[in-house]
Order: sequence, then structure tokens, then C-alpha cells
Amino acid sequence: MELLCASSPLMDKGILSGRRVFVTGAGRGIGRAIARRFCEEGARVALSDINGEDVTDAAGTLRDEGYVVTSSVVDVTDERAVEEGMALASEALEGLDTIVANAGILTLNPISEITMEEFERTIRVNLTGAFLTAKHGAHHLRRNGGGVLLCTASQAGLRGLPEMASYCSSKFGVVGLVQALAQELAPEIRVCAVAPGVTETVMQEALVQERSRIWSVSSDEVLSHFDRSIPFGRAATVEEVANTFVYLASPLASYISGVTLAVDGAELSG
Ligand SMILES: NC(=O)c1ccc[n+]([C@@H]2O[C@H](COP(=O)([O-])OP(=O)(O)OC[C@H]3O[C@@H](n4cnc5c(N)ncnc54)[C@H](O)[C@@H]3O)[C@@H](O)[C@H]2O)c1
Repeated sequence: MELLCASSPLMDKGILSGRRVFVTGAGRGIGRAIARRFCEEGARVALSDINGEDVTDAAGTLRDEGYVVTSSVVDVTDERAVEEGMALASEALEGLDTIVANAGILTLNPISEITMEEFERTIRVNLTGAFLTAKHGAHHLRRNGGGVLLCTASQAGLRGLPEMASYCSSKFGVVGLVQALAQELAPEIRVCAVAPGVTETVMQEALVQERSRIWSVSSDEVLSHFDRSIPFGRAATVEEVANTFVYLASPLASYISGVTLAVDGAELSG
């Protein structure tokens, strides 16, 4: 487990000034953008990811810009690793008041082709991973006297989508986890989820490839199908998704708990 730390005058400014945050899946994509936006808003951030190279790079870039960060390699399916990663982050940042369970994987297949291994792996990373992050995160938030627990769900956690039985099951589970914990941990701990629609990341590229394979059409046809089905006519940027996390973590959302907020260019409203 590697720790990187620096001190910074930048943390005095911003809506999350002084906050101490643990983010999973922070090596790239949405998690990396969350870590950056939280830093920009004055938080100290512990980045974690299963990919050591990516998370070291993400944390190193932020540290070079003067932000206070730590990085660690944590597989969210490994309870001991989650517990240890959070304990180290808490020690380095002098406590934790915000936890973001963001790590996830995408799997796509017709039901007849989904193997037990694929289904269980999807549930294990996306749902069990969020559960373990929430379980050990809640411990630190209680020690802190309260805080905010956020999860990355998906629009696929709010509606069914073809060839996504595994992924939808896992993300509907995350929405349920958030609702149950919002009830159980109120009022000291707020618990919310963000449900991104199609968002510009490596995962989106994988989604296009898999859709193209399953539908036997070109990647361009898949992309134009996506754009047509989204009223905004485009995918979300990672910053647009990360900004929603900033809002939900901030005091502006002080009376919001138990919700899953869609960031989907109006796709779900149809
Ligand atoms: N990109 C989209 O269109 C989209 C849409 C809706 C929801 N999401 C969700 O957003 C979250 C982030 O996805 P992204 O688009 O940034 O994808 P991504 O693939 O770019 O990033 C996912 C990150 O999670 C990490 N990760 C994977 N398995 C892990 C594990 N077992 N332990 C710890 N880290 C692990 C990866 O190494 C990677 O850094 C995921 O939960 C995903 O399901 C993404």
C-alpha cells in the first residue's frame, strides 16, 4: 500500500474545504474526476483503486498541483483490503468524513450467454464492493460524529436494459443499499447515489464495443443510437458527473438522503 501526501494552502477554499474523503475506483474515469473536483473544492482526498499504476498516477498529478492526497491499492471485493485501506487513509488524513463507493465494472451479454462467473463477478465488484465500502466507511463516519456516504449507481440501476441483466441487478442493488442505509444511519450520516447515464470513460468505450458485437452493427451506429436516445444528444463528461458528487457531499445538500440522482441528459425522463 503506497501513501503519497503533501500539504496545501488550496484546501482553505471551496465548498468542501477541510473535508477528508475516501474514493474507490479513483485511478481513472469518473472516480478520478471525483477526486480532482473534491480537491479543487478544498478537500483532502484518499484515492484508491485496484490498478496501482493508475491510482499512483492520478494521486501524483494532484499532488504535483499542490493538493493533499494519499493513494492506495484496494480491491473493493476484498474486505480486509477495504478495511486496511480506509484505516491508513484515516490515519493520513486525520479521520474521514466523506466516503465515495465508485469502483465498478461493466458486463454485457444476452441472458443465455451470461455465465455464473460473469454474473457473480459483476455483483461482487459493483454491489458487494459498494457494501464493503459502505460498511467500513460507516465505521469511520460514526467515529467522526457523522458524514456523507455516496455511491455510484447507474441509470441501469433505475431501469432495465437489454443484455444488462448482471449489471442492472448489481446497480439496482446499489440503489437499494443506499435507501436502506439512509434510513439506518440518519440523521448523522447522509447516504446518496449518483446515477450517471452514458459518460465519456473507458467503460463507455467498452459499452460501445460490446453493443456493437451483440447487435452486429458498427461502433458509429451504436454511438449515433446513444446520441438519438439521449435528449441532450451526447454523453455526459466525467466533470458533469463529478460535480453532482460535489453537490451531494456539500452542505448545500444537508437535507438530502436516500436519493439516487440521475445525471443522464434527460434520458430517463422519457
Ligand atoms: N461510464 C459510464 O457510462 C457509466 C455510466 C453509469 C455508471 N457508471 C459507473 O461509474 C463508476 C465508474 O465507472 P467509469 O465509467 O469511470 O469506468 P472506468 O472503467 O473508467 O473506471 C472504473 C475504475 O474502477 C476500478 N475498479 C474496477 N474494479 C475494481 C475493484 N475490484 N476494486 C477497486 N477498483 C476497481 C478500475 O480499475 C477503474 O479505475 C462505475 O461504478 C460504473 O459502473 C459508469
